[in-house]
Amino acid sequence: MTPLPVTMESEQQLFFHNYARLPLAITHGEGVWLVSDDGTRYLDMIAGIGVNALGYGDKRLATAISAQATKLIHASNLFMMRPQFELAEKLLTLSGLSKVFFANSGTEAIEAAIKMSRKWAGRFGNPEKKEVLSLSNCFHGRTYGAMSLTAKPQYVNGFEPLLAGTGMINFNHICDLEEKVSDNTAAVFIEVVQGEGGIHRISQPFIDRLKELREQYNFLIVADDIQAGCGRTGTFFSYTQVNAEPDLVCLAKPLGGGLPLSAVIGSEKVADVLSYGSHGTTFGGNPVACAAGLAMINAIHEDNLMENAETVGNYIYDEMRKLAAKHPQIVDIRQYGLMIGITVDKEAKYYAGKALQKHVLVNATSVNVIRLLPPLTISREEAQHCITTLDEILTEETAEKNC
Ligand SMILES: Cc1ncc(COP(=O)(O)O)c(C=O)c1O
Repeated sequence: MTPLPVTMESEQQLFFHNYARLPLAITHGEGVWLVSDDGTRYLDMIAGIGVNALGYGDKRLATAISAQATKLIHASNLFMMRPQFELAEKLLTLSGLSKVFFANSGTEAIEAAIKMSRKWAGRFGNPEKKEVLSLSNCFHGRTYGAMSLTAKPQYVNGFEPLLAGTGMINFNHICDLEEKVSDNTAAVFIEVVQGEGGIHRISQPFIDRLKELREQYNFLIVADDIQAGCGRTGTFFSYTQVNAEPDLVCLAKPLGGGLPLSAVIGSEKVADVLSYGSHGTTFGGNPVACAAGLAMINAIHEDNLMENAETVGNYIYDEMRKLAAKHPQIVDIRQYGLMIGITVDKEAKYYAGKALQKHVLVNATSVNVIRLLPPLTISREEAQHCITTLDEILTEETAEKNC
């Protein structure tokens, strides 16, 4: 049987229609460039939706993966495996926290954190202490618990009923926070920088008040660092920038160096929350993914990629401000390391389509926000190529309007 060609027609034939894919068949990548099947090179400002921190073709990552794959690809958590131990130790050293649980995806890390929160809250003799809260405009994933914490109606509509005992606090709204938390609160989930929500950072007064209320009502703060973590915002964990002192931290996306891996890291307070058999997953902490994750974290440190995220991110911000002064289509720019949101005056999909025609890949999120999540390895010159392209697109649009 001849295999189907890799085209949009075959895609429609083969798959459920849940992904709005770009009409681009990718064969490989080099640095921050993706190459399509006709040999065209695309500057990649999406990085596998914030996954490919090292870009494409990093030899250390490939060597770590192949060396581990030759030895052992899977054995399950019935056994102890060195790559898991090494990665867990690394994460505990970096965070100063106490325990690690490995899963496979961001949403699974969130599910585990929801379960841990409720189990922990069960200790205090209040059967109502089950409430798990999140912040408006957030995104935590697609499985039932994570989806129930997620704000956007388009991710939720038609899938109701959602998980009982969940609720939402208005983002950065201290009065609403004070109103919503109580003795019945088990946990509050936060993204320090909301990614899917359009790159918005939690305010310092909000975090400070959240921490005070945690003392008053005895609940957990869970930091979802799935998109903003692993160095993207200039520090390994984004929550250290606002001193959030979370009890649980969720990591995923770049954690497995491109292989499926997520982690929940917990403080001493929750260290003994899980008993044998109370939670688990067959694949979680796969040794090849853990070896890749370790190589990825070591490379981030060896190559000073957190500093690069900060300096190139600041450069993009400064240059985008110059573009905003010329082009009224740019409404606002928000930048935290290499997590950048550009609010535009129409659907961001329009600009993403124009950029694709010019062989630059940018992501549209939150309707009118162009989101840039390039590899942390991006150089100033490569960033400039993206800025020049956006400048061209905005100039051409103005010229077309004036015709
Ligand atoms: C902040 C945040 N949390 C959770 C998730 C869900 O992760 P996954 O898609 O790996 O399930 C994402 C994915 O975009 C995310 O950005």
